[in-house]
Amino acid sequence: MKIGIMGFGVVGGGVGELIATNAESIKRRSGEEITVGKILDLRDFPDSQYKCFTKDFQDILNDPEIGVVAEVMGGTKPAYEFTKQLLEAGKSVVTSNKELVAKHGTELLKIAKDNNVNYLFEASVGGGIPIIRPLYTSLAANELTDIYGILNGTTNYILTQMIKEGETFENALKGAQENGYAEKDPTADIEGHDTCRKTAILASLAFGKFVDSDEIPCEGITKVTLEDVEYAAKFGAVIKLLGITSRAENGVYAMVCPAILDSSHPLAGIDDVFNGIMVRGEGLGDVMFYGRGAGALPTASAVLSDIIDTVKHKDKHIRLGWSEGQEGYLLDAKTLP
Ligand code: HSE
Repeated sequence: MKIGIMGFGVVGGGVGELIATNAESIKRRSGEEITVGKILDLRDFPDSQYKCFTKDFQDILNDPEIGVVAEVMGGTKPAYEFTKQLLEAGKSVVTSNKELVAKHGTELLKIAKDNNVNYLFEASVGGGIPIIRPLYTSLAANELTDIYGILNGTTNYILTQMIKEGETFENALKGAQENGYAEKDPTADIEGHDTCRKTAILASLAFGKFVDSDEIPCEGITKVTLEDVEYAAKFGAVIKLLGITSRAENGVYAMVCPAILDSSHPLAGIDDVFNGIMVRGEGLGDVMFYGRGAGALPTASAVLSDIIDTVKHKDKHIRLGWSEGQEGYLLDAKTLP
């Protein structure tokens, strides 16, 4: 099977690298060899080992050998139009693009279903942590009630640098950008929008109905100062940016905000680029997911898991929890304390 890659940035490069490094085990697990057929990017990569770059989306859309496309370009324009056209043309799309999934996931899932292909997004939340698939497979027997997550590697890295190294916010952000964790425009990280989109995706999957990220009250870490961090440290506590969502009797509520956590809290010790997600279910109790939440290879690992799943289940649509396109039912933000 040949795959297309749209966007050859940090994650796209990681996808290519993992396919090359783990070719044998990927073939064993998917049942056939997976190779890169075409890479779409507007930039030139004269020194790249790949000779299959194109600047024209039609080259991927019209290539009959390409059955799966990794959309790792980010943003909604032109990712939304491209994804729609690929699904309608009978190609599966896997993505790390949380903005697109949060905004247009319901529609894209329906198009995928109608065309008997897949729209999968394991890499959209938690980087390399398997969290999307468990919500609709391993945990499917549970009524899930709450999710608490550290879902953004950049802000967790910044807060950790401030706590452990006494680093300023600006320097710590620079470090996150140099390490390839931050978004192109880091506003989405530091203002909490990235965490907010990921929270909405988790809520939609866990509770089975679309939750709109625009309706979630959201505050990032731009107002967190070194004094705040030191204040928490006096009590052996830490400040973390959390995405929280719960199911109530009359709906779902969610919020993104910096919170002070006692050191005994399961999320308190999750530092640097690591993400942690605590899922609570009736029957299950609490379960913790932990791992690298950003970066080339962790995120590529999740993208490739979706590619392998698609190749393995060829000609069969994989149904995700909120594929039916139901309306959201987030409680009115004004009802929150
Ligand atoms: N900017 C994101 C983060 C990338 O820092 O977590 C992974 O979604």
